[in-house]
Amino acid sequence: MFVIGSGGKHLEDELRELGGEVIEIELRKFPDGEKYVRVLGFGREATVISSTFAPQDEKILELLLIGDALREKGFEKLRAVVPYFAYSRQDRVTKEGEPISVRAVMRALGLYYDELYIFDLHNPETIKYFPGKGINVSPARIIADYFREKLGEGIVLAPDRGALGRARAVAMELGLEYSHFEKRRISPTEVEIRPVDIDVRGKNVLIVDDIISTGGTMVKAARILRKLGAEKIFVGVTHGVFAEGAVERVSKAVDELAVTNTIPTPVSKISIVPEILRL
Ligand code: R5P
Repeated sequence: MFVIGSGGKHLEDELRELGGEVIEIELRKFPDGEKYVRVLGFGREATVISSTFAPQDEKILELLLIGDALREKGFEKLRAVVPYFAYSRQDRVTKEGEPISVRAVMRALGLYYDELYIFDLHNPETIKYFPGKGINVSPARIIADYFREKLGEGIVLAPDRGALGRARAVAMELGLEYSHFEKRRISPTEVEIRPVDIDVRGKNVLIVDDIISTGGTMVKAARILRKLGAEKIFVGVTHGVFAEGAVERVSKAVDELAVTNTIPTPVSKISIVPEILRL
């Protein structure tokens, strides 16, 4: 049985249509802004779905309140599906005195939830901070399925070496070649950024990554690919975090931009709901 938090409302209709059983929940705010949560159903096990896009802190707190309410009602096993996990990019101390924010949020959720499912966690290793069973769900299959026909015999690229695993996973689904962009210093003053060991001339290219924020990374990659003679350029990303104007910037630079619906956006064309039902 599913419980849908405010970060999962955009997934609810499809979840019900595909046969997901949903427990009713009342979610509102007190006049002073505090959250009010009331779970109306009963049971022993529940899967709470809520993605923690902005306002992130409210959604994280709501997940804790829902967890507390479910335990209070006697639910014995709780799973949290948090498709986009806020604070996942703050995964290390870069200046003394900082927290490892992703660890703090995972530990807090561990107070209530036995299992945690996240789609394409920014740094997959950080799932270890969740005290229970933590699973990082790959979106490779659904991204590959969406672009399969459009991409044809094209290639899959990651915008940097860090995202190579993502490109590899999508390419394996499609049976295509893959690579990543890399900076190469050609002289003391010149740096060249280009895909490593792969020729994109005349080929369709799919660039994959976990997050688009400002869109700067994708726009830069698309410009380089155009210069190198790529045919069609597609962008398939898991989380459309999208700063102001980013959808337009990236859409203008490429032939098609599609992200999954871990976050609801105008270009969330790839649904994670079938994957949730398979967990
Ligand atoms: C960075 O490590 C992430 O994987 C993305 O590449 C990054 O968040 C994209 O940011 P932007 O869209 O602002 O270039």
